[in-house]
Parts: sequence; C-alpha cells; structure tokens
Amino acid sequence: DRARAGSGSAFDFPEVEAGVDADHHVAEGYDADVLLRWGDKLFADAPDFDPENQSEAAQQRQFGYNNDFVGFIPLESATDRGLLVVNHEYTNEHLMFPGLVTVADGKIKVADATEDRVNIEMAAHGGTIVEIHKADGKWQPVLDGKLNRRITAKTQMQLSGPVAGHDRVKTSEDPSGSKVFGTINNCAGGVTPWGTYIMAEENIHGYFSGELPEGHAEAGNYKRLGVPAGDYQWGRFHKRFDVSQEPNEPNRFGWVVEVDVMDPNSVPKKRTALGRFKHEGAESVVAKDGRVVFYLGDDERFDYVYKFVTARAFDPANRAANMDLLDEGTLYVARFEVDGSLTWLPLVHGQGPLTQANGFASQADVLIEARRAADLLEATPMDRPEDIQPNPKTGRAYVMLTNNTKRTEPDAANPRAGNAFGHVIEILEAGEDFTATTGKWEILLQCGDPAVAEVGATFSTETTRNGWFGMPDNAAIDADGRLWISTDGNSMSDTGRTDGLWAVDIDGPARGTSRLFYRVPVGAEMCGPCPTGDMTTMFVAVQHPGDGGDDWEGHGRPSYYEDLSTRWPDFNDRMPVRPAVVAITRQGGGRIG
Ligand code: FEO
Ligand code: CA
Ligand code: CA
Ligand code: CA
Repeated sequence: DRARAGSGSAFDFPEVEAGVDADHHVAEGYDADVLLRWGDKLFADAPDFDPENQSEAAQQRQFGYNNDFVGFIPLESATDRGLLVVNHEYTNEHLMFPGLVTVADGKIKVADATEDRVNIEMAAHGGTIVEIHKADGKWQPVLDGKLNRRITAKTQMQLSGPVAGHDRVKTSEDPSGSKVFGTINNCAGGVTPWGTYIMAEENIHGYFSGELPEGHAEAGNYKRLGVPAGDYQWGRFHKRFDVSQEPNEPNRFGWVVEVDVMDPNSVPKKRTALGRFKHEGAESVVAKDGRVVFYLGDDERFDYVYKFVTARAFDPANRAANMDLLDEGTLYVARFEVDGSLTWLPLVHGQGPLTQANGFASQADVLIEARRAADLLEATPMDRPEDIQPNPKTGRAYVMLTNNTKRTEPDAANPRAGNAFGHVIEILEAGEDFTATTGKWEILLQCGDPAVAEVGATFSTETTRNGWFGMPDNAAIDADGRLWISTDGNSMSDTGRTDGLWAVDIDGPARGTSRLFYRVPVGAEMCGPCPTGDMTTMFVAVQHPGDGGDDWEGHGRPSYYEDLSTRWPDFNDRMPVRPAVVAITRQGGGRIG
C-alpha cells in the first residue's frame, strides 16, 4: 500500500495482490493494454490471423510466437512514436496448432511434425521490428510503417568478426563460412547506444538432431552445449539442422545478432567477437571513456557471467561510425572471489591457458568454444546467469541468477545448495568504470518466500507477501536508475502465484524491498520489461499463457482448445491462447511506478 512509500522507497504505487487466475493484473491506477498478439498483422497487406489455417507465408507477415525481449527505439526523438523490437524465442506446438495433442493411457502425445508445420514454426521464431505510435494515450502498431520487418529462422545473416570465414563455420551450403540463414531461440537482447537491435541466441541445442559422424572434431564442443538435443524436428526437412549431414551448422548459432533497424533490407550480423554460448541477453552501457560495455549471461547451470568491452569509443554524432563497433574488443569472464572482489578474466588467444597446447589455434577457436576457454580460466560457475542490467547512474550492474537445484556445494556468490528460487548479485565496477577489470560484488537478494525460514530469502522486512518472488529472469533499469525484475517460474515457488513484474529498491533504507506491479495469467511467463525513456510506458511480454495450466509436473492441460485454464488474451473459445506484448500506462497519463 502507499503508506509503505514513506519508508524511503523509490516507488509509489499500490501493490498488486499475488495470486493466480485466467487474466493479467496491474497496479490500481494503471491500464494494461494488449498491443500485439501472436498472429497480429504487421503490414497493411498481411493476412488476418486464422489459427486453423496458419501458413508460413502468413506467419512471415505476422507477429511471431513467445515474445521475450522487448526494446523501444524512439523515431526522430519523439516520445509517442518509435520502433518496438521484440524477440520471438521459441514455439509451443501444442498451444499453436489444433489437433496435435492426444491423450492415451494417461500419456500425452504431440503429433509428429509435417514440413508445413516446421516452416510455420521457423517463421514464428526470430524477431519483429514494428513502428508504433501513441494516440489519445494508447499505443497502436503502424501497419504501413516503412521499417516494419520480420526476422525469422530463415532470414539471411552475416557472420562477422574473428570467426567469419573460419573452417569450423563452413558448410556445404556456405563454403565462405560467413553466410548464415536465420536466428533461433532469441531470449533477452538489447538496444545499443547507436540504436541497433540485439538478439541473443540462447538454447540453440534443441533445434539440432541427428548424430555427428564418428570421431568428429566438434564432439566435445557440442557436448558442452548439449548439441544435438532434438527438441524440434526441423532436421527432418532442413538438413542443416541435422548434424549427421551438416556437422558444422551448430557453430553458426549461439551468437549475439545485431540488426540495423533503420534499413529494413539490412543483413543482420552475428557478432562473433562476443563469444558463442547460450546467450541470455546483451544489455549495454557507454563507459566514461566512450567505449561500450555489454553484459552477457550464459544461461545454464554452472555457467558463467561475461562482459564485452569494445575496442573503439562510441561516437554519438556519427551513427555510421558505430555500426561495426561490435567486431573488435575484449571478451571477459567473471570470477567472483570469496572476499567480495571480482576479477574479469580476458578470453584472448595466447594469454594464459588459451593456447595451441589446449586446442586453441586462434581467437576464432577461443570464441567458438568460449565456455571451454572460461573453464580453463577458472571463472566462477554460477546458478544460471540470465539478464544482466547495467545502471549507468551508478557504475553498478545487476545479475539475475534464476535458480540451480543441482548445486550441491555452495560458494560465496552462489550461497545456497539446491538453489530453488535464485538470487540477484550487484556488481560494483572499480572506480564506477564499466570497463574495469576488477570490482566488487554483493548479493542484493536471495529470492523465495521469506515466511519459510529454510528458504533463506533476504527481502527486506518491508516486503509484503505479494512482494517476494523467485526465479529472477529479465530486468530493466529505468530512466531514474530504478530496478525492475520479471520472473520465469515464480509460480513453482508457491501454487498460489504467477510470474510477474516486481519493482525492487536498490538504494537507501528501502534497499531489498520488492513490490508486485503486474502479474501474468496462469501458465504464462513474464518477459520484457521495457520502460520508455520518458517513463510513461512500461512494455511487458507475456510468454506462453496457458502452458501447463496449473499443473507443472504433468503438463496437465496442454491442449489447443480444450481444458485450458485461460483463453488470454482473446477469451474466445475459437481462439488459442496467444503470447502478447502489453503496454502499461498510468490512467490519465504520467510516470510509471
Ligand atoms: Fe530463455 Fe535464460 O531464458
Ligand atoms: Ca530469460
Ligand atoms: Ca533487460
Ligand atoms: Ca524467460
């Protein structure tokens, strides 16, 4: 309640009550309006969404599935017009296509893929760039926006930086080792200071199937990433996803992708200098000397926190001069020391153990196998590093560590065995300089229910039963330097809760206080969040509403039309549930939070 704001909180909104039901809920005094749903037209000539007759051609002109990262790039410095950039991380076939799910002997079966279905899935992946404008206080897509664009798992891209042209990224379709088709599993991302859109490739292993040829040189490399996992059936129809036929293709994924949104025909670039791993996101900040620093999480249990520092400085007066800044620079991995200090270890070929003797013949080898390089540098294995958000006001950065139930040996930076609810680390770069190679760190929050003593949560005592959360995933720092955190799997920490967006105090006496601003419908996960620069809108992304219903263990309610625990956002029995981006504004206008 508002009375709590008196305790030094930077936030002043009436908290949402935690809970679970078919709808989404925002703090009183705010509107949460659905802006774009899966299948919505992005072009004036795009076909209307017809879920029972979906096609690849239609999907290529419509908003994709499972919106994750959301960014806003103002056009001509306007606050009421800009480009919304949205990642489409993955697809849930059982929720997308009618008639796929059957139940026999208590077991759920999803029908085998067809070529058409795979092509729709590929077109529902990738990203959306769409012009939006605000009229009468409400955001709307601009369907004749000249910059509107869909990027999919088939869009032509260029490998750039140290790995481009290397033998390990050459394939039968691309002997140049530089021309790649598509981007997949784009989780979080970023918008650069020069206004390009960053899409991070995360769980790439699931798209590959088949068996590597016996004794293949990439066997160890792929094992470290879990390739091939065969979660999707793309390899049956597109041989590049079958490692028995195209064994180098997985080396062409797992990168950070940069898109020039001001040219709808630009070729997106896979920026190999930032390393290859399960990239959660790539949020950036301009350091004091003008170089740009990108924070990078590798989301897997016991993997690492990285940052990339550009070699050259950002030029705010010359956009073109910044367009290849990401091809040159230094990638570092973090070691969190017991005494609260932090060391950033450079992944540079020839330095320390990163030599020919250890199988690294060049910087390209170091980048392709960044995880193995980081292992040899003795970086600190973390509890699933997700989004990392720098705060330009303070020289600090916030690391979301979502959970790690497999941790048996706690350490200083990952202090809980069987870490079921995750934690948030605050990094303090030396001299408040984001390029620093040393710093300090402390734990801002250990997540979970503070009322259950054995959980060991550390929210402030001001935090209400609505305010605590588990499984921090995405984060944003708003224009006032305030921290917002969204969750993936908070519902698993308590059956009476969903995921949502929380406002977390990081300064002053209220530090460690969290309060619930928005929560998602049952089965959904909360992504985004993206506050606009003028703080009048918070965009959020509701991912996979209705998935699993209220039964996580048995995927209890996975069918398309029947037994769904929600029909969000259309609440129409002839429409599937749809992931959607929501625009949150204050009733009557004004600043958020
Ligand atoms: Fe796609 Fe790390 O979450
Ligand atoms: Ca994530
Ligand atoms: Ca973020
Ligand atoms: Ca997520």
